[in-house]
Amino acid sequence: MITISTFDNEKTENKISESRNQTNDLRIFNSSISHEIKAPIRAIDGYARIFLEDYGAGMDENGVELIENIRTICRDTLTLVNKLLDYTKYAEMEPIKEPVDLKDLIQSVFHELVGSYSQSNSIKLQFEGSIPFILSDRFLIKQVITNIISNSLKFTRGKEVGIITAGYQYENNVPVFYIKDNGVGFDMKFSENLFGMFQRMHSSYDFEGSGIGLALVKKMIESLGGRVWITGEVGKGACTYFTIAQEDILK
Ligand SMILES: Nc1ncnc2c1ncn2[C@@H]1O[C@H](COP(=O)(O)OP(=O)(O)O)[C@@H](O)[C@H]1O
Ligand SMILES: [Mg+2]
Repeated sequence: MITISTFDNEKTENKISESRNQTNDLRIFNSSISHEIKAPIRAIDGYARIFLEDYGAGMDENGVELIENIRTICRDTLTLVNKLLDYTKYAEMEPIKEPVDLKDLIQSVFHELVGSYSQSNSIKLQFEGSIPFILSDRFLIKQVITNIISNSLKFTRGKEVGIITAGYQYENNVPVFYIKDNGVGFDMKFSENLFGMFQRMHSSYDFEGSGIGLALVKKMIESLGGRVWITGEVGKGACTYFTIAQEDILK
């Protein structure tokens, strides 16, 4: 017979309350990051903008460029802080699953994002295999698709015709989803840890970014019960694969 002592119960309750406190600490930490870091960065950017408006006309090109550099650094830092906040927010989220039309989601994410990438008119989205409905957390899976598609859009920049292909297939009896592109790709020899924080294969001079996207994708896919990996070939493109639990594949 299994008996649970009051002592064990107390220990479990202590653990739960400890973990609640930690989550609460994280929320407080996040909101203070938002206020204490983002506000001054916005202020610096605001002063730089006013400075340019009021004194730009009297400055030479180099002076204007220096102030514009300040504004660019402010924008990049705000993006980075937002991505870090996303990371802490989504990585901790408990999934709430419901039926999701994955093909429709991929299409709508593509259309939402494509406009913000240059040469958007020459980037196409196509499908291979028929993408099933899945049981997933709508919010988390959208973040996953957004991160993967935005990588494909970014790394196909410069291609005359960028092609993004989303597909679904069985590999060793396991259902696998993938999103591939014909972009710059990367060298697999040095790519073991692309799912780690801040890991990148490309310099930010060539392609902007912070190396948080795939780390977040991994956290979210794992919390949805799946696995994720990526392959690439220099000059040919990359393919990001992910699985979800078999019982979450609907017809
Ligand atoms: N579709 C892709 N094509 C080429 N390289 C990619 C692709 N997706 C990811 N990578 C490589 O993996 C790195 C990490 O991706 P990610 O975490 O999304 O960071 P970021 O997009 O901020 O660079 C990228 O910097 C890039 O080197
Ligand atoms: Mg990315």
